[in-house]
Amino acid sequence: MERDSAWNPGIYGGSVEFERFYVSSALHDDEIVVDLGNRSYSVYVGNGLAADVHSVIPDDVGKIAVVTQRNIGIRPTLTIPHKIFNIEDGEQTKSLGTIAELCSNFAAMGMNRRDLVLAIGGGIVSDTAGFAAASFHRGIRYGIIATTLLAQVDAAIGGKTGVNIPEGKNLVGAFWQPSFVLCDLTALKSLPPRELLCGQGEMAKYAFLGAEGLDKMPLSAQVSACVRIKAKYVEADEREGDRRALLNYGHTLAHALEAVGFEDPRLDLKHGEAVAIGLIYAALLAKRLGRIGQDRVDYHYRVVESYGLPTSLPVPIEPDRLIDSMFKDKKSFGTLTFVLDSRSGVEVVRDVDVALVKEVLSELSQ
Ligand code: GLY
Repeated sequence: MERDSAWNPGIYGGSVEFERFYVSSALHDDEIVVDLGNRSYSVYVGNGLAADVHSVIPDDVGKIAVVTQRNIGIRPTLTIPHKIFNIEDGEQTKSLGTIAELCSNFAAMGMNRRDLVLAIGGGIVSDTAGFAAASFHRGIRYGIIATTLLAQVDAAIGGKTGVNIPEGKNLVGAFWQPSFVLCDLTALKSLPPRELLCGQGEMAKYAFLGAEGLDKMPLSAQVSACVRIKAKYVEADEREGDRRALLNYGHTLAHALEAVGFEDPRLDLKHGEAVAIGLIYAALLAKRLGRIGQDRVDYHYRVVESYGLPTSLPVPIEPDRLIDSMFKDKKSFGTLTFVLDSRSGVEVVRDVDVALVKEVLSELSQ
């Protein structure tokens, strides 16, 4: 981890006056409140919001620890004393080691419960910075400037924070809600096309969770619609007792593809691409179980294809490898468990027959 020299001892220690104003409605296209009682917060969607971050930083914040990555080109001017910590790229940086390092740095800064961690980046940054904030002093505030589409429509919303351990992805973490989220659409303009596509995989999921016609909307409206739906699921079931699990639509196969891909470089899929294939698989499986008709399967193909996302496995994969991994899914509890569509919406379906799961997997190997 590198530390930037943005710390300003001339400001720290003195009293700093700065103008405070609210995110102007001219700047943001939409404000969505995630209503969780005293843990409620606003998610703003619009262009150039990062420059206006001061307007959403709570008045009593004394210091800010900015957690970001070197390649993220967003560095808003902060008039509050702050330090910048760059974490590495890639999933390997989401580790307990990084949390320990961040917390030591927070301690060295003298951060306390009045202060703020500001995550600037995609899901890797917000998951890691959020968990460091959740852990330090048993919980200090954090805010997020989400710079990837995947983070804007999923990772940054809902307070899931955490890191990986060798035994699995996101196995250690906490539910810890941010104080604000800025979905700055300007950041998406410099996102590599495949990263954008990756976010669209997660976005496509919402088309089956209530956002019909999503793919026909302008980008800003699509982000807002996804955030609004996610907010409703989080409000109904903040700690994933039941309903929130439905946000994992398409993810049972997606997580298995990612796990196999981790060991097999032929399967080079980003998360959103794996989710896209998982959505198609879930539709095919739901049809075989008599839950939906061919028209609904066709709708899945239409939505996924409209984003230019994959609908089949890019290389042949031994079905048993995927099935082994599906048994380890966090929804599983020892049987094959999927979120599946039905005529009245998606629901969790347990005890799906292994032979059927295998047979439907063969339909994906085109
Ligand atoms: N990514 C699914 C959730 O936040 O619950």
